[in-house]
Amino acid sequence: METRISEIASGIYRLSTFVPDIAPPAGFCFNQFLVLGDEPLMFHTGLRKMFPLYRNAVSRLISLERLRWITFGHYEADECGAMNEWLAVAPQAQAAHGQTGCLVSLNDMADRAPRVLKDRETIDLGGGKRVRFIDTPHTPHGWDAGVLYEESTQTLLCGDLFTQLGNGPALTDGDIVGPAIAAEDLFQYSCLNPNMGTTIRGLSKLAPRTLALMHGPSFSGDGAAALRVLADDYDRRVGRAFAAPQSAAA
Ligand SMILES: [Fe+2]
Ligand SMILES: [Fe+2]
Repeated sequence: METRISEIASGIYRLSTFVPDIAPPAGFCFNQFLVLGDEPLMFHTGLRKMFPLYRNAVSRLISLERLRWITFGHYEADECGAMNEWLAVAPQAQAAHGQTGCLVSLNDMADRAPRVLKDRETIDLGGGKRVRFIDTPHTPHGWDAGVLYEESTQTLLCGDLFTQLGNGPALTDGDIVGPAIAAEDLFQYSCLNPNMGTTIRGLSKLAPRTLALMHGPSFSGDGAAALRVLADDYDRRVGRAFAAPQSAAA
């Protein structure tokens, strides 16, 4: 297995590891993102058992001691399994996550105390980079779920949103909603909830120019339009899910 490194927006690097054994024959990729600045930030730590692979990949971009922030969308192995391994090799590093995630998981699970981020709180990384944490509870899954928005490049690090199968290019301007709908049909990985469409539609107001997917290519183009179409699809799913028991009872 190897980790491919690509710059998907100025100073934002995608580290992508393809695992052919998951959902064959298409396979599945796991992406981490490194936002460079005076205080480099990682979004997704990767799986604990694959840490040696990721450590080698990140050390091709920065010396590990420089890593300052460890962030992710929600508490789950592919998002943060290697959090403590990173804390061990990067003495300056600190995990940063939303209030729910810190209270529910990180205050106990992180080897050093995390920084607690309020909804929409920003971290200034220096070098012109500034990231904003946005709470998206239960969207696509996890009570503590959130996304990260890098303001200078208008890049939305959207975690599991738009998850798709396969090992596509690092960056695409093609359709990402159709493949995301297909993956949702297959995995049913989202926690369907009444606020889901509204939450995703709210992200479209950021008007992102790049969408950085954890499982899929990064998307360059009209991010707001893609988010609105995805929100509409989840509204339909949620509507069907909530209508189903009533029609069954009728
Ligand atoms: Fe997840
Ligand atoms: Fe994930």
